[in-house]
Amino acid sequence: MKGQNRVMKASLDKNNIPKHIAIIMDGNGRWAQKKGAMRVFGHRNAITAVRESIEGCSELGVDFLTLYAFSTENWSRPKDEIEALMELLVQTMSEETPTMMKNNIRLITIGDVDSLPEKCHQNLKETMRTTAANTGMTLIVALSYSGRWEIQQAVKAIVNKVVNKELEIDAIDQSEIGRHMNTGGIPDPELLIRTSGELRISNFLLWQMAYTELYFTEVLWPDFRKEHLHEAIIAYQNRERRFGKTGEQIKP
Ligand code: IPE
Ligand code: IPE
Ligand code: MG
Repeated sequence: MKGQNRVMKASLDKNNIPKHIAIIMDGNGRWAQKKGAMRVFGHRNAITAVRESIEGCSELGVDFLTLYAFSTENWSRPKDEIEALMELLVQTMSEETPTMMKNNIRLITIGDVDSLPEKCHQNLKETMRTTAANTGMTLIVALSYSGRWEIQQAVKAIVNKVVNKELEIDAIDQSEIGRHMNTGGIPDPELLIRTSGELRISNFLLWQMAYTELYFTEVLWPDFRKEHLHEAIIAYQNRERRFGKTGEQIKP
């Protein structure tokens, strides 16, 4: 570990680590283009960042890490790029499974995973099966995911229950809606990190991020390391989370 990073890690408040961190892993294409390479070169060089963020969160005792890997809208990209991304996904899952086992990490997915190529889907299911009994951090990979798609699924499921008389209209409160999201049972993220300098949400966790602290960094995803994760958590620890109250009301 670099000296500077050791100092940064030491300055983290161990009693105020977010339980759930969500990351929009952005900037692979620009990273490659800056090097005069094809966009897929950036995706291939993103594995280290994925590994560092998983390990970094696991070391700090984060309970849930959600990584936005492929959005519903990403299906509009050139066919070659989509194929390369799917191939890479299969490869990463196989390569990272031993690390997940070693670190007691459980893998789950959110999104329309049935729409992924069969090989990808099978591979994911295999890794989920292998890691299912792990009791440490839960790694949630968002694939063919978008917040609006998820809300649409939830609305359909709820209406279906009402029509079948399994649910009273008056019982549809916010926790009932939350239970119908793909993330049902998982606490909302306290911290969202987006790399590459883009200041938007891009259809990620719309329902869950009502009160999430947003952290944006210029770092392009393939360059993201544990020190950047620590920087983001330190920034989060310096925020005042008021949830609508006044500053005075939340002072201990
Ligand atoms: C993020 O990097 C990876 C995915 C969206 C799959 P991008 O591919 O969006 O890279 P930029 O934003 O074009 O640089
Ligand atoms: C968001 O990144 C989706 C993922 C990181 C998987 P994009 O690069 O697709 O987002 P936009 O299109 O720039 O908003
Ligand atoms: Mg992008």
